[in-house]
Amino acid sequence: MIYIESTHKTVDDVWRLSMLQPADKIEPTGYPTQKPETVIERIIEASTNPGDLVFDCFMGSGTTPAVALKMGRKFIGADINLTAVQTTTKRLLNLLPTSDCGLEIYNVNNYDIFKNPTQAKDLLLEALEIQPINSSVYDGEKDGQMVKIMPVNRIATKADLNNLITNLDYKTLEQRQKDNPNQYVEDILLVCMGHEPDLAATLKKEVPYKLNVEIVDILRDRANIEFKRDAEALIRIEDNELIIENFYPMNLLQKLSIMKDNVTDWKELVESVMINWNYDGAVLEPKEIDVPSKNDFVKGVYVITKEAGTIRVKITDLLSESLEVSFESE
Ligand SMILES: C[S@@+](CC[C@H](N)C(=O)[O-])C[C@H]1O[C@@H](n2cnc3c(N)ncnc32)[C@H](O)[C@@H]1O
Repeated sequence: MIYIESTHKTVDDVWRLSMLQPADKIEPTGYPTQKPETVIERIIEASTNPGDLVFDCFMGSGTTPAVALKMGRKFIGADINLTAVQTTTKRLLNLLPTSDCGLEIYNVNNYDIFKNPTQAKDLLLEALEIQPINSSVYDGEKDGQMVKIMPVNRIATKADLNNLITNLDYKTLEQRQKDNPNQYVEDILLVCMGHEPDLAATLKKEVPYKLNVEIVDILRDRANIEFKRDAEALIRIEDNELIIENFYPMNLLQKLSIMKDNVTDWKELVESVMINWNYDGAVLEPKEIDVPSKNDFVKGVYVITKEAGTIRVKITDLLSESLEVSFESE
């Protein structure tokens, strides 16, 4: 028998590390799947050197970026879920010194389009050419498929199917199954923005009739989809002048790949400004017609006429898409 004395230690393949403590007021962020920093610390320590770049493509509450930052590593984090991005951003901003630290956040999803869930549904129905229907179960119909728009700005989970499963018209489904036992009783299309892998299978399993379930994931299947977005303008009245401070033609900006905050001069994006000083609520009869010549820009500042009542401003961008807004003169 040979005895080898060794001082060398290896890490066991079961790591005994304590879980996040609910009573801890500092580390828990409230993100449901957050991991303790000690786990990530060990992984980063074992696999990188200071200054290396650490990437976590499922960052959740940002444990990996936070630990990487504390350990002097550079990092990239990504997550499909807006809450994850917000939680991580808050967490990192708390950690970072107030000086410029180089934290940059890129939005590669359509989070800003889908801020309002009701609008999100309408935008998706329009962009995917789905016929809206008035029903408590489905949101629309397309080519014989009944369409359900799942919650967006986060991955769709099995729990999100509950409403659909509860509200299905089981009597009709049963009848269809009796009439045509070998056919699907319903063709369902689930539209989502990221989803749990077994979403379709779960729906089929939970409903005791033969369903055909298809998933359209707008991040994976329709990544090039373009959403129609409203333009925005900042207009104020001061010293008897109407001043257009800023104008964001969102569709045009999207086409030019310019972020809203990076617009240097809104006038470069504008074809014309028309103003009706006494708008009758129906027909635009502009008295101010600002259509600059080829190398000029619109003025952006207009003297309000004495007789002005309801003012209607129409700003048209280089795509010939217009924004019209009305307000009362002071
Ligand atoms: C288990 S959690 C990560 C938790 C993280 N380690 C922490 O400590 O907070 C997994 C994350 O992956 C994200 N996710 C799931 N599918 C994704 C995808 N296709 N692309 C990017 N993120 C995704 C989820 O939103 C979730 O935040």
